[in-house]
Amino acid sequence: MTIFTASTTAPVNIATLKYWGKRDKTLNLPTNSSISVTLAQNDLRTLTSAATSERFDEDQLWLNGKLESLESERTQHCLQDLRDLRAKLEAQNPSLPSMSKWKLHIVSENNFPTAAGLASSAAGFAALVVAISKLYQLPESASEISKIARKGSGSACRSLFGGYVAWEMGTAADGSDSKAVEVAPQDHWPEMKAAILVVSAAKKDTPSTSGMQHTVGTSDLFQERITNVVPKRFEEMKQAIWSRDFAQFAELTMRDSNSFHATCLDSYPPIFYMNDTSRQIVKLCHQINAFFDEVVVAYTFDAGPNAVLYYLQENETKVMAFIHQVFQQNSGWDSKFSKQDLEVFSEYFTT
Ligand code: ADP
Ligand code: DP6
Ligand code: CO
Repeated sequence: MTIFTASTTAPVNIATLKYWGKRDKTLNLPTNSSISVTLAQNDLRTLTSAATSERFDEDQLWLNGKLESLESERTQHCLQDLRDLRAKLEAQNPSLPSMSKWKLHIVSENNFPTAAGLASSAAGFAALVVAISKLYQLPESASEISKIARKGSGSACRSLFGGYVAWEMGTAADGSDSKAVEVAPQDHWPEMKAAILVVSAAKKDTPSTSGMQHTVGTSDLFQERITNVVPKRFEEMKQAIWSRDFAQFAELTMRDSNSFHATCLDSYPPIFYMNDTSRQIVKLCHQINAFFDEVVVAYTFDAGPNAVLYYLQENETKVMAFIHQVFQQNSGWDSKFSKQDLEVFSEYFTT
């Protein structure tokens, strides 16, 4: 029997202006536009292989070595869209094998903690959709494919691009204009680096999908955020990236992380993604910036306790000296830190 296969890797992207809230749950349409930085291909990434054959009996996904259900509505939605595009291609080229009718076997592996607030759903669904579109030899552009990845997990649409990426929320009811676009390529600001501080690799209690639904339904602050805060910040952050203004980029990033977590706290009952160690990292970053009397580092936290720090290459020693001192040697000026606070301490950099 013939088995057709294709593989891909997709990198993690970490939002600097957070997506949190859906206006349409099925199509995964957001309540606000967002911006992210995509990490280097070889750092935090998903590796996914897709196979299809006339002989396969059912769609199957092995995630990190374990058989997982492919039944979820969001995954089925992605598979259906990809099969529809393939069917269109087959109708135009009758000599192509009828893959659109066959079942798929997917094998996927994340080289970083899954469901711990390090954007596994972003890299995971981007890799799933790209692997299958390669298998199907689809001619669609990255922005078009990003709309399919979006239906799997909103943040996944941004992992279709490297560098600085915006997810434009769009206005169309069918989601046809809710897609990822490049703000600037990675080499526009190659000095930018990211370090990931893994506070806990454990699976979070509240998945992003249900967490944001809960916030939309119960937080008063949320309306203020999407109406009066994010639209202005979206424009300001793009400007900061275009003009390579680190101080501005950093302040907007830190403020947005705080604003997003404030809406989680304002949900009822509240959701806590950050823990004591996360808050110590926030404090430390502000102390580092105050010490140098210059904004040299920015923190951001997704839906989990783990920190992502952004800084410029030239300031790496300044930033990392403090971080290592405080966390690795437990001899910093804040004795509340200990090595155990960071279960794993790793640094992953954008290239
Ligand atoms: P995270 O903060 O890691 O993005 P989410 O709660 O948003 O956490 O999503 C985690 C879910 O994403 C996992 O439980 C799984 O269903 C899905 N996921 C993660 N990695 C992959 C992958 N490589 N392939 C397919 N789905 C994945
Ligand atoms: C805090 O994209 O994981 O990381 O669309 O329901 O899968 P679903 O949610 P997801 O949410 C990401 C939330 C965030 C912010 C962001 O990445 O923009
Ligand atoms: Co996610």
